Amino acid sequence: MGTGEGRLDVARVRGLFPGLSDGFVHADGAAGTLLPENVVLAVAQAMRVPIAARGGAFPASARAEGLVASARAAVADLVGGVSTGVVLGPNMTTLTYALARALARTWRPGDEIVVSRLDHDANVRPWVQLAEEIGVLVRWAEVDIETGELPDWQYDELLGDRTRLVAVTAASGAIGTRPDVAAIAERAHAVGALVYVDAVHAAAHHFLDARAMGADFLAVAADKWCGPHVGAVVADPALLQELEPDKLVPAPERVPDRFENGSPALELLAGVSAAVDHLASLSEDATGSRRDRLRGSMGAVAAYESSLFAWLDQALRAMRHVQVLGSPGDRTPALSFTVDGMRPRQVAVELARRGICAWDGDFYARELFDALGVNEQGGAVQLGLMHYNTAEEVGYVIDSVAALRAR
Ligand SMILES: Cc1ncc(COP(=O)(O)O)c(C=O)c1O
Repeated sequence: MGTGEGRLDVARVRGLFPGLSDGFVHADGAAGTLLPENVVLAVAQAMRVPIAARGGAFPASARAEGLVASARAAVADLVGGVSTGVVLGPNMTTLTYALARALARTWRPGDEIVVSRLDHDANVRPWVQLAEEIGVLVRWAEVDIETGELPDWQYDELLGDRTRLVAVTAASGAIGTRPDVAAIAERAHAVGALVYVDAVHAAAHHFLDARAMGADFLAVAADKWCGPHVGAVVADPALLQELEPDKLVPAPERVPDRFENGSPALELLAGVSAAVDHLASLSEDATGSRRDRLRGSMGAVAAYESSLFAWLDQALRAMRHVQVLGSPGDRTPALSFTVDGMRPRQVAVELARRGICAWDGDFYARELFDALGVNEQGGAVQLGLMHYNTAEEVGYVIDSVAALRAR
């Protein structure tokens, strides 16, 4: 067992990111993150040596096998799974469609699923579209419009003995809400439903334990935690064994391979392992196994980010020309806001002019932004902090948003 949460030395950490030399304030982390040098080098190194397809009798093919095994082990460490339950793929959306198709084969007309209005569309539409095809009833967990919370008590009414699946996010990248996934999963399991958790945003900010969360499936994407564009879904291999995904006849039958269609982006898998190593190294005080070091480092990340974010959140809420969506609470370091008299794109353009990267739009939180009524005006502006952001940058962002009032 490792020790120590420790401290995040942001000056050291910033030195690891070549992309920071562009001089911009990268407050777009909720949509995608910068890459540390070790990830860049790992991908480059994987491209320098011969790598063939998997399954051959020669060293270049064995190298490919090693890259897949290392990436699976890294993702398993990140979320507390086993590597034989890690399905790798191009991104979370593609994997979720594939898993949804496999799970939907077990659904019957009249069954029910529960999706949430808080979720990114990638954890909504695949389920809803398949449910509609089969005649499965879709029930919606609603967001409290004032607070931005997803109350777990409503699941008592939403769940029943026909519920087959609950899809819910571990954290909203749009407004930072962190639903009580464990409480929702406990209710879902009590009626025999499976739980599919979108941890794409959450994984960058908190130490995750898929089992403690009650996630039967937990989806992540490395580009949200300083890795390349690779997605992964983690599940119990025994559960994967029960499912029949779409696959080519000659492709392996074994789990988790049978969920991985076609050739993987082998070079990028080297970057997945390196990104998890990066996260595990963020606190120099954290020791022990990689999982132990992730626990310590992600604890340090959460403490660091939440103090920066509290300042940003409070400062924006105090501005009379700014509306931050939802209320303050247990949030990841991500928020969305609107500015009186300006469309979100205008705000984003103005921030970009000042050297700040910030997204505008609905960030694919389509259901949430429809419920909040902001889509007619172009959505909102999103700010998402990462462990490489500084207090100085946050101060500059606050001053820049304050200056919009004068326009
Ligand atoms: C919270 C959340 N879930 C899911 C996704 C979809 O991930 P991917 O782009 O890997 O399909 C995103 C992407 O931004 C996201 O932010």
